[in-house]
Amino acid sequence: MTSFNMMNHYFVTSTGTDMGKTYVTAAMIRALRAQGRMAHAIKPLASGYDAAQAATSDAGMLLAAMGRAVSDEAIAAICPWRFAAPISPDMAAAREGKAIDMAAVIGFCQAAMAAAPGHLFIEGVGGAMVPLDAARTVRDWIAALGVSAVVIVGNYLGTISHTLCTLEALAAAQIAVAAVVVNEQGEGPVPVAETIAALRQHQGGLACPIVAVDAPGWLEWIGEQRPERD
Ligand SMILES: Nc1ncnc2c1ncn2[C@@H]1O[C@H](COP(=O)(O)OP(=O)(O)OP(=O)(O)O)[C@@H](O)[C@H]1O
Ligand SMILES: [Mg+2]
Repeated sequence: MTSFNMMNHYFVTSTGTDMGKTYVTAAMIRALRAQGRMAHAIKPLASGYDAAQAATSDAGMLLAAMGRAVSDEAIAAICPWRFAAPISPDMAAAREGKAIDMAAVIGFCQAAMAAAPGHLFIEGVGGAMVPLDAARTVRDWIAALGVSAVVIVGNYLGTISHTLCTLEALAAAQIAVAAVVVNEQGEGPVPVAETIAALRQHQGGLACPIVAVDAPGWLEWIGEQRPERD
């Protein structure tokens, strides 16, 4: 019988776009690989995709972190649904006369979960409440997979409210949060440690590790690697 070792599978989501999901996922992969652990990532849905910039696309950056060459085939294998318009994926798909086939997206993720040795990071798209079709958002995608979320947040004015709202939204769908990772892009209005302290104070019953990228021990919440099958 095949059973997923859910401990090794994480859905990387965020409070919104450009918070650093890809940057942090690449950093997690590199850090785990440097420890001799296996780590993979997929980015099933991407909008704003430009084949001429494949190397700097999310999928390209994730392939590089995995130590793999960037090619059209390699991109397609980890990022099968790519849309050109840099707008929410349901709208970007509609611009191309398409709709997102949620069952297919979920099936693709489940196949990757079954196949990937070691840790697997599934990068979402934008924030946790981004629409995927008329009825469903990224949150429904995470819930359908039954994996824990890793929530990447920024260190800007407003991040505490955005982060707490996102955690509440995930909790309302019974999605476990493995960790919140604070990613500072440029200098924030307060030190990252102060943002982390404020989040800890207000996270209440949603207790989970809150860490800064690359801080000592920042990946301690990631489980040990165990066999994928029994
Ligand atoms: N800590 C950081 N230091 C320097 N640059 C960063 C950092 N975090 C993110 N960036 C840069 O900011 C931009 C946005 O980050 P990233 O692409 O990882 O966001 P994202 O959440 O994955 O966005 P999307 O929703 O489009 O997938 C990128 O150009 C990335 O290289
Ligand atoms: Mg990204």
